[in-house]
Amino acid sequence: MTRHLLSIDDLSVEQIQEIFETAAEMHDVQRREVKKLPALRGRTVINMFFEDSTRTRSSFEIAGKWLSADVINISAKGSSASKGESLRDTVLTVCAMGVDGLVIRHPASGAAQQVSEWVDAVVVNAGDGMHEHPTQALLDAYTLERRLGSLEGRQVAIVGDLTHSRVFRSGVKCLTKLGAEVTVVAPPTLMPSGIDEWSRTAGFEVNYDLDEVLPKADAVMMLRVQKERMSGGYFPSPREYTVGYGLTRERLAQLKPDAPICHPGPMNRGLEIAADAADAAQSAVLEQVSAGVAIRMSVLYHLLAGEETP
Ligand code: NCD
Repeated sequence: MTRHLLSIDDLSVEQIQEIFETAAEMHDVQRREVKKLPALRGRTVINMFFEDSTRTRSSFEIAGKWLSADVINISAKGSSASKGESLRDTVLTVCAMGVDGLVIRHPASGAAQQVSEWVDAVVVNAGDGMHEHPTQALLDAYTLERRLGSLEGRQVAIVGDLTHSRVFRSGVKCLTKLGAEVTVVAPPTLMPSGIDEWSRTAGFEVNYDLDEVLPKADAVMMLRVQKERMSGGYFPSPREYTVGYGLTRERLAQLKPDAPICHPGPMNRGLEIAADAADAAQSAVLEQVSAGVAIRMSVLYHLLAGEETP
């Protein structure tokens, strides 16, 4: 296994499958009354979140705890980062306490990679700016595999604010690695620049017409409109975005009835996804959350069990 998990590029197809196999075992632990395994007893994992998070942070925390690691949470608000301490000083400080694993979310693309060069601890990227979010991509692919069987040849549509999305950047890599045929859909203003060249070399399709893509999709992943990363007007009005690119009640009817609907959360209900779609029988949104714990247990297990304490 790789030493750190910074990007989906760190993983081979075989390693992804290995993570999924362990995650399936961890999933069984989730259903037990006593949810504890001794695998990481004596290990310390720090969750450092310099951006807001509900599910990623709590699922890393639960994952570490169910593996019996000691888990400590640090967020930018309430830490010395808000007093002007540099990222390097903050991570070196916590690592000087004897930390084995560092799970980091940071608004700067490349932050996790940079941190991995400063510390001896194993680093897991929990989202770096608009760059990558590898555990999200793993849990999404794992959720889809459980629903659809193999992803080989399956049509997956990734729809929404692609420009600002690390979930998309990790997701498209992971899904294509596993053999899915991915089509990405966004309004022109939210399509990353250079997408044509990238899609040609990486082997995915680009489309601007959601109504053309939806009926063929075996699964659809809706992404959040990330207003906090937008400085200007990317679309005329929320209503116009929904009309062109939202998974509305009308569009739900175009989807195959067994095609899973995914969303990494947090959802803007009524903007990129209608309540009818989010709560539909074919929605996989809560399965994604539950898979998130299993995947993060598996990742922490593979990276930290058997690792020598630095
Ligand atoms: C995503 C993130 O933070 O990158 N959410 C998540 O991890 N569940 C996507 C988003 O914020 O829209």
